[in-house]
Amino acid sequence: MIDEYRDELHGEVLHDIQTAEYGYKYRLLEGIVMPPYITPERYKLSRTLEMRDDDVCFISYPKSGSTWLSHILILILNEGEIPADTTLRNCVHWVASSWPYPRSREELDSSPSPRIFKSHMPWHMAVGGDTVNSPCKYIYIARNPKDVAVSYFHFESGKQWSGNYSGPWEHWLKWFLEGKVQRGDWFNHVLSWWHHKNDGNVLFLKYEDMKRDFDNQLDEIAKFLDYPLTDSTRSKIHEKSSFENMKKNNFSNLHEIPELGSFFRKGQIGSWKDMFTVAQSEQFDRIYTAHTQDSGLEFEFE
Ligand code: A3P
Repeated sequence: MIDEYRDELHGEVLHDIQTAEYGYKYRLLEGIVMPPYITPERYKLSRTLEMRDDDVCFISYPKSGSTWLSHILILILNEGEIPADTTLRNCVHWVASSWPYPRSREELDSSPSPRIFKSHMPWHMAVGGDTVNSPCKYIYIARNPKDVAVSYFHFESGKQWSGNYSGPWEHWLKWFLEGKVQRGDWFNHVLSWWHHKNDGNVLFLKYEDMKRDFDNQLDEIAKFLDYPLTDSTRSKIHEKSSFENMKKNNFSNLHEIPELGSFFRKGQIGSWKDMFTVAQSEQFDRIYTAHTQDSGLEFEFE
């Protein structure tokens, strides 16, 4: 269990960590609520990395299918095979995070291509600085925000460490709509990347499209990465990326840090209905419409 957060280099207790109601720990970066393990030093490193033209960065608001996407990326780059003697978590560089594998600038600079980066940042906090001038390819995955709010509530309540959320659903939902959960306001986050969806080095995906139309979405990703797929590779990726197979395979199930809880809960569209009351759903819809109505961004909710 993590009881206090310490500076990576000097081991000193970090004093900018704040505790909100229900024991929820966070720190502010660029005015946005972030997890305590996203340190200013590592954030700065992520912003100032020298990017390569075969780098790939996948990004999402939490609980939007990023683990699924990362597994697909690894399989595309490995012709449908799961790499031996390693784990999914170890195959990606999560630069802004001080755990579980805090890689130094030297390690990142000497890491072989193609490098895969993970990020949960809004566009203006992207890995590699300004994405418009970065040679890296960025793949953002978004999910309908009602399912995100529910998935995130279960995830944050299930963590076995100091700083998890111990309050009720209705309070969590209020925070979610106010942008007070880690990673901040869902609308700002998703819209920040949506506005860049037509940039040549940005691919914007939706969880619901991946669920409904996996093979076509897979082809989109492979085309974007310039990795054409054979029929055999496509069907291997399809099978190995299923919810059930990812959950049982020790490469992909993120079992190394059991106190984090499971990244595989239901894997469905519409599980928000288990938690939202009718009144909560109507209030959510009003706020959702106000934020998205002129954007062209639409989601399937069931
Ligand atoms: P639920 O909590 O709704 O089940 P992230 O990886 O970004 O943290 O997202 C986690 C969500 O993606 C969880 O949603 C999880 O079950 C779902 N998920 C993980 N792997 C999946 C897969 N192979 N297919 C569909 N959904 C998946």
